[in-house]
Amino acid sequence: MQKFLIEGGVALEGEVEISGAKNAVLPLLAATLLASTPMTIRNVPRLKDVSTLAAVIAGMGVTLSTDEHNNIHTDTSTIHTFKAPYELVRTMRASILVLGPMVARFGEAEVSLPGGCAIGDRPVNLHLMGLEAMGAEIVVEEGYIRAKAKRLKGAHIVMDIVSVTGTENLLMAAVLAEGTTVLENAAREPEVVDLANCLVKMGAKIDGIGTSKITVEGVDSLSGCDYTVLPDRIETGTYLAAAAITGGHIKVLNAAPDTLDAVLQKFREAGAVVNTGADWIELDMRGRTLKAVDIRTDPYPAFPTDMQAQFMAMNAFSQGIGVIVETIFENRMMHVAELKRLGANIRLEGNTAIVAGMPNLKGAPVMATDLRASACLILAGLAAQGKTLVDRIYHTDRGYERIEEKLSRIGAKISRVNEA
Ligand code: EPZ
Repeated sequence: MQKFLIEGGVALEGEVEISGAKNAVLPLLAATLLASTPMTIRNVPRLKDVSTLAAVIAGMGVTLSTDEHNNIHTDTSTIHTFKAPYELVRTMRASILVLGPMVARFGEAEVSLPGGCAIGDRPVNLHLMGLEAMGAEIVVEEGYIRAKAKRLKGAHIVMDIVSVTGTENLLMAAVLAEGTTVLENAAREPEVVDLANCLVKMGAKIDGIGTSKITVEGVDSLSGCDYTVLPDRIETGTYLAAAAITGGHIKVLNAAPDTLDAVLQKFREAGAVVNTGADWIELDMRGRTLKAVDIRTDPYPAFPTDMQAQFMAMNAFSQGIGVIVETIFENRMMHVAELKRLGANIRLEGNTAIVAGMPNLKGAPVMATDLRASACLILAGLAAQGKTLVDRIYHTDRGYERIEEKLSRIGAKISRVNEA
């Protein structure tokens, strides 16, 4: 089992190049199923989740290749199967994103029900409710979602919870449906906007992009396009947090500062000096005191749940008391128990964590439970005294491209070790 061995106490200093956004490239890959002609996606990060979804799509017979820059080229003219199998979907639940485009373009789909995961039950009822509203016949049996539709029809859909992939699935279904679809209470995340912008480039007719009310005029077909994935705002926030927690100074390049307003505001509240340009962000924490901050996660443009664990680590090392409330997922506090192994002073009351910052936390062996928890523990290891060994880092590899290389380049003492 691979682990990260980290020697803490180094103030990080330097520049980091941000990769394409995992949570944008996944829906964009699914959107290639809608294209009647070949398509190219650029700025694709080298991540396990991306290769898993590529395997799902290739497994359906789509001709899919990656070039030396990891750009992905697809041609759906060879598709022969409309099934996303359990063995792949269970390892990457965002595979559910092939459901909407498959029903919209081919009139049928068989997709394994994505299991829950460590952070929550992760139901897909909104995805299914919306497709049924558009006329799909859906049966859930033997662990599979089986959907059929002659041609989807536009519908007025109100989602009672803001769902990122729910919005993305229904958007991809609506673009080829007959007539008008209105999605109310739609997610406004930048990754949803990136998908909508790509669909428009393919010939879709979409109004209200980036708002909570999206209106789609269905068209008969969509062509492929050449699309570049937006920068990963969560990867960006994670490296900024690495500089903040170690009292360092970092400049992240190829970033999208305008997708991180709520997060940058919290870094400033925590005592950092933050400057931004068109595609870069600079954070300076040298000689400054890391202050505890209160965090409440909510849908975009509010503070993202995917940055909650990283700020939990920062608060553990800060001066003062910070209260963190997780409102999106029911079980996204598992990193708290692991932080306590380093001596963190955190009291959990349901999905509220009261964190009293402590000086001189000491490294220890810890275990990652999910992707962002693993980021939290790496950040804590970078700031703690002595050695920290992070286990189950396959979680990390799902969402962070070459993380030990990028961190080492800015001074971190981190290596990937094979331990029994
Ligand atoms: C996306 O997950 C992201 N994943 C998650 O990132 C992110 O944490 C999440 O959005 C919230 O921002 C991808 O984009 C691939 P949701 P998603 O549907 O779409 C409930 C990471 O670390 N819900 O917005 O699955 C759900 O249980 C990952 O990169 C329903 O009840 O999340 C949750 O409580 C983790 N029924 C809330 O809505 C549904 O049909 C928000 O979930 C759908 C969702």
